[in-house]
Amino acid sequence: MTDSRAKTITSVLQEERSFLPSKEFQARARISSLAQYEELRQEASRDPEAFWAKKAREYLQWQKDFTQVLDWQEPHAKWFGDGQLNASVNCLDRHVEAGRGQKTAILWEGEPGDTRRITYAELLQDVCRFANALKELGIRKGDRVMIYMPMVPETVVAMLACARIGAPHSLVFGGFSAEALASRSNDAKAKLMITADGNYRRGSVVPLKNNVDEALRHAPTIENVIVLQRTGKDQQGTWNKEREHDWHELMQKQSDICPPEELDSEHPLFLLYTSGSTGQPKGILHTTAGYLLGCAYTFAETFDYRDDDVYWCTADVGWVTGHSYVVYGPLANAATVVIYEGAPNYPDPSRFWQIIEKYKVTIFYTAPTAIRSFIKWGDEFVEKQDLSSLRLLGTVGEPINPEAWMWYRQKIGQDRCPIVDTWWQTETGCIMIAPFPGATPTRPGTATRPFFGIEADVVDHDGNPVPDNTGGFLVIKKPWPSMLRTIYGDDERYRKQYWSHIPGMYFTGDGARRDEHGNFWIMGRIDDVLNVSGHRLSTMEIESALVSHSSVAEAAVVGRPDAIKGESIACFVTLEGKTQPTPELKTELIQHVVRHIGALARPDDIRFTESLPKTRSGKIMRRLLRDIAAGRQSNGDMTTLEDFSVLERLRHSEEQESV
Ligand code: WT7
Repeated sequence: MTDSRAKTITSVLQEERSFLPSKEFQARARISSLAQYEELRQEASRDPEAFWAKKAREYLQWQKDFTQVLDWQEPHAKWFGDGQLNASVNCLDRHVEAGRGQKTAILWEGEPGDTRRITYAELLQDVCRFANALKELGIRKGDRVMIYMPMVPETVVAMLACARIGAPHSLVFGGFSAEALASRSNDAKAKLMITADGNYRRGSVVPLKNNVDEALRHAPTIENVIVLQRTGKDQQGTWNKEREHDWHELMQKQSDICPPEELDSEHPLFLLYTSGSTGQPKGILHTTAGYLLGCAYTFAETFDYRDDDVYWCTADVGWVTGHSYVVYGPLANAATVVIYEGAPNYPDPSRFWQIIEKYKVTIFYTAPTAIRSFIKWGDEFVEKQDLSSLRLLGTVGEPINPEAWMWYRQKIGQDRCPIVDTWWQTETGCIMIAPFPGATPTRPGTATRPFFGIEADVVDHDGNPVPDNTGGFLVIKKPWPSMLRTIYGDDERYRKQYWSHIPGMYFTGDGARRDEHGNFWIMGRIDDVLNVSGHRLSTMEIESALVSHSSVAEAAVVGRPDAIKGESIACFVTLEGKTQPTPELKTELIQHVVRHIGALARPDDIRFTESLPKTRSGKIMRRLLRDIAAGRQSNGDMTTLEDFSVLERLRHSEEQESV
């Protein structure tokens, strides 16, 4: 499967266009030449530990300095093991102490147009108060706290307050269902849930609190709930006063002094659940020092950060991009961050560009799927706006197609702004492969080269490097500070998933090739993980949701190429007994998946079939299903197919429309 996919993509992407940073950009850049880049790269690879130790002292403030850099007992890493620090101090107190208290930390734009500007001093005050509120509710160092919140400043306050008292947070994106929230809370054995009554999305209210109410019926470890009244649409009358607390009431009575916990470098900072190749999401565990160093340092270099920048990353804080590049990375650098609550096309598709104009955003970081949507909506929404403040653009989350890259460069960057295509994962914590914008020549479709100190390679099944321009597995050969430490509660799965496919190397799950210039071209997941609009979903998770419906006997889910979303969700379903396929059943199954996982997993296509193509050993032939879903003629080897006629019937169902 890997090899055939790799071949197709290699032949498609022969991208020769190359762009150098403009003289103007280069002149002011932190890393402003290939020679300077090369020097730092060599320093980092000669002695990675010395390099990271130096950066750890440069980028972080330590309450107790470290003497040990790395303790590596594969697959377990301890970085800066005997040091102590606090992430909230690094994001807040040290800036205020340095006289930066009046600098704007957050420029917030609510969907209905309400706005707030919050300084570092104010943010610190709120974080201290909220940290005291957490303590009042019995939260102690080590307790897990769920956060199911919209894109409002309070979400940042909640995260940093948890960090201040050493209570690992676990955010769940608001697009996940009550059931998904409950299962994550149960896995984390969380004590507290922080949520809002709702949030605004395309003019309507998303009822977050209702989902929490439903989740809590199956989440017995939660003792208390804090509710922010964002919309005021959910009346407190329905609240369970014993354990549900109003955010503002709680805050009012707190002191704004809260001494930070002195935490070990390896103290857990957060858990973040992500989809893997089984049905059960995994709680990716990140710890304090290494993670924060990774975010702070990559933020500064990849975005060529300067003190007067206005930076906007459009990701939701519920994803890792939001953790690392809305919260921890920028705030550790005392950056000014724009946060927007709503959708890119509400009230109309110029909303993003209006926000850039309004706040004079200089650095803009978004996902390829958003760029493709803007292309579809039309250039007129871009052209009306003044985008001259922009100086750097970034993308993340999925491979970017060269057309989208060129449009982004020309229409948004006006041929002036370098584009940093950043490859990384929830597991890697921070950016791993990306250009240094003042030095690296960029090409549409490649994230270019590894960051300093990151030993990435493309290898075959046995771990041998493959020749240039040949597809293989993307691996990381040395531990790095911001790597995940384990899968929460399942260290064996951690070992198996990441460190056993190819002994001695971190297995990313992505296919890639490297070209003759050393650029990495990411070709997408080689496991059963889908990337739908930059959101990571497991085919198994969707299959389990489908088969939990009483009418479904078997289900197979595959990705189908999609011009906007990258991949869309195609489901093949066989029905129980005499159940008849009807359009109503199709709708019901779609709703069923949404209820189980969330709106982000809504199937795009459900096809009923009498049976699924399987090998003699009973494995579903996904490659074939992918071809069918994509409407491609399958030319792969089919000799192991159990029943050839199945294939014909599936094709036929496609021509006739499934039901
Ligand atoms: C997967 C990780 C990293 C934050 C957002 C997603 C894909 C990510 C790129 C890129 C090609 C990319 C990979 C990766 N991916 N960035 N620049 N080019 N592919 O985090 O949900 O953990 O997903 O996203 O397939 O493995 P995630």
